[in-house]
Amino acid sequence: MAYVELRDVTKLFGTVRAVDKLNLSIEKGECFSFLGPSGCGKTTTLRMVAGFEDLDGGEIEVGGKLMSSKAKNFYVPPEHRGFGMVFQAFAVWPHMTVYDNVAFPLKIKKLSRSEIEERTKQALANTNLTKQAQLYPNDLSGGEKQRIALARALSINPGLLLLDEPLSNLDPHLREEMRFEIKDLQRKYDFSIIFVTHDQSEAMALSNRIMVMKDGRTMQIDTPLNIYAHPKNQFVFSFIGLSNFIKVKLDGGRAVIESAPEAGALAAEIPAEFAGAPKATLACRPSDVQFVPEGEGVRGVIDRMAYLGETVDYMVKVGTQEIRVEKSRREPRLEVGHACSISIPRVVWYE
Ligand SMILES: Nc1ncnc2c1ncn2[C@@H]1O[C@H](COP(=O)(O)OP(=O)(O)O)[C@@H](O)[C@H]1O
Ligand SMILES: [Mg+2]
Repeated sequence: MAYVELRDVTKLFGTVRAVDKLNLSIEKGECFSFLGPSGCGKTTTLRMVAGFEDLDGGEIEVGGKLMSSKAKNFYVPPEHRGFGMVFQAFAVWPHMTVYDNVAFPLKIKKLSRSEIEERTKQALANTNLTKQAQLYPNDLSGGEKQRIALARALSINPGLLLLDEPLSNLDPHLREEMRFEIKDLQRKYDFSIIFVTHDQSEAMALSNRIMVMKDGRTMQIDTPLNIYAHPKNQFVFSFIGLSNFIKVKLDGGRAVIESAPEAGALAAEIPAEFAGAPKATLACRPSDVQFVPEGEGVRGVIDRMAYLGETVDYMVKVGTQEIRVEKSRREPRLEVGHACSISIPRVVWYE
């Protein structure tokens, strides 16, 4: 059995279904992310796993032990679950030294002095805070403060670490550094992680698997690669990276743009399941659109252009359809107002 199991987990706030019949399993040692827009139920789900919220339906099991069950009216309080937790705000105690911040949960647990010392030193070493042990949090940078929170969560040797947007208050450079550090810590301690984020690149970089959520429901649970390459629906496609959705009419084995059928056919093979369909939506990444010689592909006009450093971002208009195209700055440049032809070899078909 998996290490963490959520079965039909549901949470209502008044009439809002914050979490709606969620099912998932997380393996021992796995980093599993909840990814989705603000308000989709990530924090609520995490808080139910932590034991800060009761359930309006379903049950949660961790390490083969029941933690919460609506049907059995059973709850293990958070302090008895033994999970490590780090939240978005730097939750450190300003009046305690770094060392005491990390040792505090161990003192509460009434461990022996020597064990408290050993575990605290280990957690400080693993989060690169040994040198700062006798400083106070206010003497430290944001990244160091967040590392204190991590060290404190780790000192109790949790089987499960719950992280709720722990990097979103850090500047971009530190954020990337902390990603590597979290991965590193996971290798050292071998715990499972639930990582909550609204940032797709963060989820991609850290996770073994990702659950994409919308309105309290699961949209897809998969590896980062599959989430990117085989998004199950348009929501997942649009949430992971840049996207174009092109409305097409299917006519005599050809896919033409709905608002400009005369502009030419997209060289896309119509999949069997769309054989008899009158129309479809084709999704693609801007980097997958190619400019082709006149006479091939679909004719359009360059409507807008922006330099983004390494890449050039074009908006091509075909009828009323706008198609975003991303090209390397090394490719020949096209000017606004000029005609162009595009082809899209790789598309995902949606109804
Ligand atoms: N304590 C609460 N009382 C009422 N509504 C809440 C409460 N906490 C969360 N919600 C609502 O539940 C939904 C999910 O919220 P949340 O889990 O915080 O989303 P996320 O973490 O994905 O941004 C939102 O619609 C939010 O407004
Ligand atoms: Mg949240």
